[in-house]
Amino acid sequence: MPRINPSILAADFVNMQTELARIAGADFVHVDVMDNHFVPNLTFGPQMVGRIQETSPVPLDVHLMIDDPDRWAPEYAELGAASVTFHLEAAASPVSLARTLRSIGARAGVAVKPATPVENLFEVLNEFDQILVMTVEPGFGGQSFMPETMPKLRALADEARRRGSSVWLQVDGGIGESTIAQAAEAGADTFVAGSAVFGADDPDRAIQSLRSLAAR
Ligand code: DX5
Ligand code: ZN
Repeated sequence: MPRINPSILAADFVNMQTELARIAGADFVHVDVMDNHFVPNLTFGPQMVGRIQETSPVPLDVHLMIDDPDRWAPEYAELGAASVTFHLEAAASPVSLARTLRSIGARAGVAVKPATPVENLFEVLNEFDQILVMTVEPGFGGQSFMPETMPKLRALADEARRRGSSVWLQVDGGIGESTIAQAAEAGADTFVAGSAVFGADDPDRAIQSLRSLAAR
């Protein structure tokens, strides 16, 4: 079954508890942490994510768009996030950071921006529980899906198959009813959607409809 992870970047931050209740049918809540250094935008840090963790009926999928994840990512695992994904471009020691996250009990994820190649990940695929192929430049919600990222997804899916790996392949950015099927066809099994879910009148119905479009 494809996993749908709504991004709360598109939610009303002042009414987070109500917003979280609107997506009770999601697989994970995608939580975008931005530091205004790695990306030109700023959201929130461990204190807010800790409260979301305490409040959310759905497990947390934390996406760190920050510099120095080697220093910060373990904190998000410690507060109970189900998965913590850091950017390959920002990490000093990706494999050792992934091992630390796993040792704390979180799923370890690594993300790549649209221009970052994925071949270097092939050899270390089993060090990660999920790989996030960004389908927009990270930093903002509501951007257009970049189909040119699909070959990377296909390459990762092929490599995972070859190695018998059960790594999850995630896409994030511009995912909605008109784009989700092509990402699924290229090999994604986990889909982040911000505006497509929170912009809908009924977010839980939007989740179901995205899930069925991805499952075809
Ligand atoms: C963008 C974030 C995404 C964002 C996606 O940098 O990582 O998670 O919320 O938003 P949509 O689905 O609206 O493109
Ligand atoms: Zn994200």
